[in-house]
Formats: sequence, C-alpha cells, structure tokens
Amino acid sequence: MAMVLFPNRIPVKGILRPPSDKSITHRAILFSSLVKGSTHIKDPLVAQDTLSSRRLVESLGVQVEENQREWILSSPGFEDWSNVDRVIDCGNSGTTMRLAMGLLSLSDEPRTLTGDSSLSMRPMERVAQPLREMGIRVATAKGYPPVTIEHEGRARGITYEMPVASAQVKSAIILAALKGSEPTEIKEPYPTRDHTERMLRQMGMTISQTPNRIHVEPVTHWQRLHPEIFQVPGDPSSAAFWAALAGLLPGSYLTLRDVSVSARRTGFFRHLQQMGTEVNLTPHASAEEIGTMTISYRPLKAHDVDGTQVPDMVDEIPLVALMASQAVGETTIRGAQELRVKETDRIHATVENLRILGADIEERADGMVVRGPTALQGGGVKTFGDHRMAMMLAVAAAVAKEPIILDNEGSVNISYPMFFDQYRQWQNGEIFRD
Ligand code: S3P
Repeated sequence: MAMVLFPNRIPVKGILRPPSDKSITHRAILFSSLVKGSTHIKDPLVAQDTLSSRRLVESLGVQVEENQREWILSSPGFEDWSNVDRVIDCGNSGTTMRLAMGLLSLSDEPRTLTGDSSLSMRPMERVAQPLREMGIRVATAKGYPPVTIEHEGRARGITYEMPVASAQVKSAIILAALKGSEPTEIKEPYPTRDHTERMLRQMGMTISQTPNRIHVEPVTHWQRLHPEIFQVPGDPSSAAFWAALAGLLPGSYLTLRDVSVSARRTGFFRHLQQMGTEVNLTPHASAEEIGTMTISYRPLKAHDVDGTQVPDMVDEIPLVALMASQAVGETTIRGAQELRVKETDRIHATVENLRILGADIEERADGMVVRGPTALQGGGVKTFGDHRMAMMLAVAAAVAKEPIILDNEGSVNISYPMFFDQYRQWQNGEIFRD
C-alpha cells in the first residue's frame, strides 16, 4: 500500500531499545537445530525474515514453544532431523538460505531451498562453490535459487580464500566444516560480522579467529556439544534509521539502549562520528558486545567510504548516501558493489530515489558520488520491495520540503515491523521513553 510521508523537523529525543538483532536471531534459530536439546532465545526478533528461519528448523523437526519474550526450541539433533519436508521456502531471507546451505549439508538427506521473487534473483554460487570444493553436491538454477543440497558422510576440510567479504558465505562454510574430515581454514578479504563464530563457540565448537582468518575444527563428539541460552541484543542496523534522523534534525539527543556494539556492526555509527555527529558509546560492564549509544545532532560534513569499511556498514550504505546529500562537501562511496546483489540493487535504487528527490548523486559501478547539501524535494519514490530502502526513504521524508509518497510501506515487516508505529510516535512529538 502507498503511504504519504510529510516533512517533519521535530528533533528525535529520548531512549529507544531498537528491535532485536536480525543476524543473531537467525543464527540462534538455525543453530538450535544442530544439537539435541532445548535452545533458549531471549528477546528474538519476530519479523518476516526470522520467521523464515523458524519455519526452516520446524520443518527439520524442531519444536518451538513461546514463553513471553522467549522462544524455546527443542531439537532432535541433526542426525535425527525429520525428512517430511524436502522443499523448504526461505521467503525473502538471504541469510536463511545461505546459512541453510551449509547447515543442510550436515544431513545425509537431500533438500531443496526456494525463495520469493527477490531471493530467487540473488547469487548462490558464492556459497555453492566452496561447498562443492568440500565434496558437497549443490545444484543451483544457473547460480540462483532453487538450490538443492545433497551429501553423505563427512565433508573435505578446505583452505578457502573468499573472493567476497560476506558473513553469510563464511557462515555456510563454517557450518559445513563442522562435519569435515579435516580442519577448514577460511580467509576473508575484510573482516565481516562474526556472530556465527562466537555463537558456535558458545555451544562448544572449536573455532579460532585471527583478523581475516577463521580456523574450524571438525566436531568429533557431537554429544559433547550443548544447546545454549542466547540473549539477543538490539539491532544496530535498525537503530541506524533513528541515529540518522538524530544526525539530521537539530536539537536531537537520542539514547539507543541494549544495542549490539560489535565493531563489525557499528561502522555506520563510526561514519556518523566522522561526519561530525556526536556519538558516544558505553559498553555494558557485563557483556562487551552490548552497550548504549547516544547520538546528538551536530552539523554534517562529507566523509568518504572505501571498500575496507563497507562490511561494517553493508546494510547502512543507502543511509550513508542520504546523510551525504545533507552534508557539506562531496562524498565518494567505493567498494560497495555487494549492494547490487542485496534484496534489490541498492546502489541503483538509492541513486534513483535520491535523484527523484533532487539530490546531486551519481551512480558508479561500485558505489556512488554525492554532493551536498541539497534541499530535498518531495515526490513519488520506490521501495523496490526492500525493507531498508523503505526506512531510508522515511528518514529522507523528514528533511524533504514536500511530502514523499512511498509506493509500499509493508516491506518493513522483513526486519522492523514496529518501524512506522514508532515513526508516527515521533511525528506526533512524543519523546521515546523506554
Ligand atoms: C548478514 C550479512 C550481510 C548483511 C545481511 C545479514 C548476516 O550479508 O547484508 O543483511 O546475518 O550474516 P553479506 O554477509 O552477504 O554481505
């Protein structure tokens, strides 16, 4: 459904606990299926994407019990997965499909993964190739879903140099490597989010890391592994939309509570700091990866992004472009070609939309060049069915001069179902009280 968004310069104020982290919730759900017993997920993200992962493990025989803000997932363990569903629909979720390619290789039964029209256009060879090197049979439709995974026994351990920096690809290889006949070594071009490594280690697996290199020891005694209690923190990629609004609207002072503050996820916040916004980070004493961030408005200046910084803010680049259009100077974003194969081609979608609104922005093969500041106009924009595009455009609407018409607001349900409720609260002048 179309939605009209009106300019609104009310500062963002208060304390907000962003929705729970999508990446961590996906992993907690998928990893619950590995070992026999009950995994507890406290504060899971309940959104379309994570429900795709939940459906996947349910089809493997995992039973889910919901208890207030906790899910308890009871699994038979991978050796006793159910074989009733051989075709599993991953919906819109690339994380579900890519991680499941590694996960399902642990089973001796073939299974096929399908997805919606957007996921069906996303490249899967980047996962299929290393898995094939490990001796796993993976069939794709000319590199795209549906994907069939078939394997018996142990996989070969490999040394793999990843051509793209992708946590999803890395995670799939790690999962397949758990049942290797030798250790597996993965080298990343740049470090990417390491939730998989941390969470599987918590469950008792032997995975060591040095910057850019991951070493996975095959599991020899599965019965010694244990299901975990996972507490899911707030998602910095969802918090980023509010941080962006706070960075754009004079007088803003926002506290984001209980957020994942892993360096691999907070590149956008470091970027905002470089643009002049005041950002303070207080890690919690008990858990170094969770903390509170405060964001206070300051005038924005341009700051470039290169390929080394992209993995730490890969989902926030459309917001970076919007911020650049409101900053003084020229911003070049390089090395962001991965955006072309996200839920939509996010480089093209960002440029097309911001141009409709009057931004001075140029498309490049691996990024964009933005000159600012420009006063954004209103107009009809397109989400391309992409949740992050919809929310970036909602942030843009706040600082535009005329109303913006969003073609379809429903896509936010993928990662942030409450987004427009909170957006309306802020538009009504309410201060966030957490
Ligand atoms: C994710 C990794 C990123 C990110 C996606 C979630 C994950 O993708 O864009 O939203 O949970 O591992 P890539 O690792 O493919 O860049």
